[in-house]
Amino acid sequence: MNSSPSSASLAELDTTKLPAHIAIIMDGNGRWAKKRLLNRVSGHEKGSDAVRTVVRACREIGVSYLTLYAFSTENWQRPRFEVEALMSLLKRFLESEQNEMVENNIRLRVIGQVDRLPEKVQEALHQTMKATRDNTAMTLILALSYGGRAEIVRMVQEVANKIRHGEVDPDSITAEMVADHLYTRDIPDPDLLIRTSGEMRVSNFLLWQIAYTEIFVTPTLWPDFNRDELLQILKDYQSRERRFGQV
Ligand code: FPP
Repeated sequence: MNSSPSSASLAELDTTKLPAHIAIIMDGNGRWAKKRLLNRVSGHEKGSDAVRTVVRACREIGVSYLTLYAFSTENWQRPRFEVEALMSLLKRFLESEQNEMVENNIRLRVIGQVDRLPEKVQEALHQTMKATRDNTAMTLILALSYGGRAEIVRMVQEVANKIRHGEVDPDSITAEMVADHLYTRDIPDPDLLIRTSGEMRVSNFLLWQIAYTEIFVTPTLWPDFNRDELLQILKDYQSRERRFGQV
C-alpha cells in the first residue's frame, strides 16, 4: 500500500492508462498546523490552497472525475468554531473558484447530506453547480457531510420503499441496482484512492465504490500535497496490475 516512488513528470505518464476517477481523503491539516505552532484553522486554510492546486493538476493531467472528502458526517462533532471555519472556507473556495471552473470546463457536484450544511454554503453550492452544470472536461465531486454507511442506509431505505410500493421485486435486486441508489449513481467507481498523512484507514469514505480501487497512502500532510507528488503516485499507479479479483 505504502511506497515511495521516484519523481515523475507529466510526459512520463502513459495517457492511455490514467485513472478516470481519483478519490482523495485529505488528512493532516491539524498536524500540519500543530507542527508550526499554528491553530488548526490555519491548517485548513493551507489545505484549501492544496485543493486548488490538485484540482488544477487533475484537469491538466486529464482526469475525468476527482472526488474530495472535504467534510465527513463525523466532522460535525468537532468544536463549533472549527466546523464554522471549515464551512466559511468552503464558501470562500466556491466563490473564488467558480470563474476558473467555468473557464476550465469543470463541473461541480456534491455528495452527502447537503441539507445539513448552513444555508449560505448550500446557496454557494447550488450557484456553482448551476454555473458549471454543462461543463464536460472534468467533474469535481465534493463529499460534504458525507459518510459511506449513511449513504448505504439511505440506499436501503429507498429500495425498501420501492419494494413496499410494489415497484421492485426483492429477488431482482442486483449490484447495479444498489449502485443506482447511491449518491454516485452516474459516476464510475474510483480507480485510485489517495490518503494523505499516513493513516491506513478508509474512514467511512465511498465504502461500496472502492471495492476494486487501488489505494495509495502517503505520509505527506494534506497542506503539503502538490502536483509533483500526484504525478509520482500516478506513475506508481500505472506500474500496478489491476486484476479486479481475477487471475
Ligand atoms: C483533515 O484534516 C481534513 C478535514 C477534516 C477537512 C478537509 C478540508 C480542507 C482540505 C479545506 C477546505 C476544503 C475545501 C474543499 C475548500 P484534520 O483536521 O483531520 O487533520 P489532523 O488529522 O492532522 O488533525
